[in-house]
Amino acid sequence: MRILQVSAELFPLLKTGGLADIAGALPLALMADGQDARVLLPGFPAIMAGVHGLTPVAEFNAPWGERFALRFGHIATDGAPAMAAYVIDAPALYDRPGNPYEDASRQPYADNHRRFALLGWAAAQLAQSLDPLWQPEVVHAHDWHAALAPAYLHFAREAGQLKGARVGSVFTVHNLAYQGIFAPWTFPDLGLPGAAFQIDGLEYHGQVSFMKGGLCYADRITTVSPTYAREIQTPEQGCGLDGLLRQRSGVLSGILNAVDDKVWSPATDAALVQGFQTPEGRHMAGKARCKSVLQHQLGLAERPDAPLFILVSRLTEQKGLHLVLGGLDALLAQGGQLALLGAGEAWLEEAFRQRAAAAPQSVSVTIGYNEALAHQLFGAGDVTLVPSLFEPCGLTQMYGLKYGSLPLVRRVGGLADTVVDSSLEDLSSGEATGFVFDRFEVADYDRAVRRAFALYQRAPDWRRVRGHAMRRPADWRTAAAQYIDVYREALG
Ligand code: ADP
Ligand code: GLC
Repeated sequence: MRILQVSAELFPLLKTGGLADIAGALPLALMADGQDARVLLPGFPAIMAGVHGLTPVAEFNAPWGERFALRFGHIATDGAPAMAAYVIDAPALYDRPGNPYEDASRQPYADNHRRFALLGWAAAQLAQSLDPLWQPEVVHAHDWHAALAPAYLHFAREAGQLKGARVGSVFTVHNLAYQGIFAPWTFPDLGLPGAAFQIDGLEYHGQVSFMKGGLCYADRITTVSPTYAREIQTPEQGCGLDGLLRQRSGVLSGILNAVDDKVWSPATDAALVQGFQTPEGRHMAGKARCKSVLQHQLGLAERPDAPLFILVSRLTEQKGLHLVLGGLDALLAQGGQLALLGAGEAWLEEAFRQRAAAAPQSVSVTIGYNEALAHQLFGAGDVTLVPSLFEPCGLTQMYGLKYGSLPLVRRVGGLADTVVDSSLEDLSSGEATGFVFDRFEVADYDRAVRRAFALYQRAPDWRRVRGHAMRRPADWRTAAAQYIDVYREALG
């Protein structure tokens, strides 16, 4: 099957969150399954620099008249065949320093509707033979940035512009909270017929919603965990779109994200001072070494017996960080340490900085983005904190599982689907992998932290649970097979 993956980010070229990890891994998993998968990306500087051998494919007009070029090249992969990539060469739109979505003062760019409409538009042009040598049978768009692709395909199909070929569209919601909402005056720029600006289309309380473009017009909708697929159909978690999602529930399903073994394997991870693998304890010396080296590097007290809680996260409301702040005194009083890596909202950055300044031997806070340090934290950690308010899937708890840094999570979204609570009374089932709490309150979070300390004191039990966690399967083969089923359904 010829499958075009459309996303704004792709690891290792450009990443602000989990979307990039998935966009980088899924095409490789599809290729490994024998599928003909290619990706389409906006030409941000990091992407132009990371796609090799870029050659022109064609020029095309944006709906608002500007002319841009589409280029084609390859992204090198570690050990796998290179990934074929189309890139939209539009320096006027994409060649800006820093974050792909916001300016230096963290304001969304005023022309974001054009910058991301062009992504969906180019995908639909590819389905209409923009590259005479390759047309997708399925266009798979990720998140609001790519969400107009299914809308453009729908109206091209209606207008008979797909030349008889059936092209299926799939839209994946990685996070319903980010919807790509724009003022109504942006609509004429998008090149969609007036019929698209109505309640059963892009119109959302008088505004233009890119997210609705994906949700209304895609042949199939997926989200990144089965629990989140259910949650977003409720008013509490539907971000105003639960009615539409219930209406489309027949074509909506959840496919749990997986972990890219080439990037995230403690045995072979080049960022770690020493690898480790068999969870039974015999070959775990590397983990102890990772911990002591990291404690030293971060200025934490070099205590092997202090449970090290780690957190690698965007610092936003979604991630439940005020629970971590609220529970920090208790965590420290019980002899734990906290090492955080993250960036985001200024007040959270400042609050964590202050806590580190007050107790530098027990709290380390690194503000910024640092891929190698993220790996080292999972390698060194005992517990990975993910107490999210909501979480479509979440990847850091899965990295924590693989690296034997037991996840402590709230029972929500993909966290509920990936972590099994270790009730201290019954560890015999062999399924427990971490600590799960329910209510979004400091008291509940605190109790889960206390349970983590209690298990940590029982070293054989801790090793047993860590063993379950590290062995939990999270391979892309299973997820890719589920996506292929969805593509077949989209092709009808
Ligand atoms: P989200 O996509 O909501 O941010 P995920 O858990 O799905 O949450 O994915 C986050 C990804 O970003 C993970 O790969 C995590 O390791 C990475 N990450 C988050 N913050 C940082 C940071 N400050 N430095 C390095 N990696 C980070
Ligand atoms: C989003 C979600 C996160 C998910 C990631 C990858 O950013 O917030 O939960 O893991 O996408 O699908």
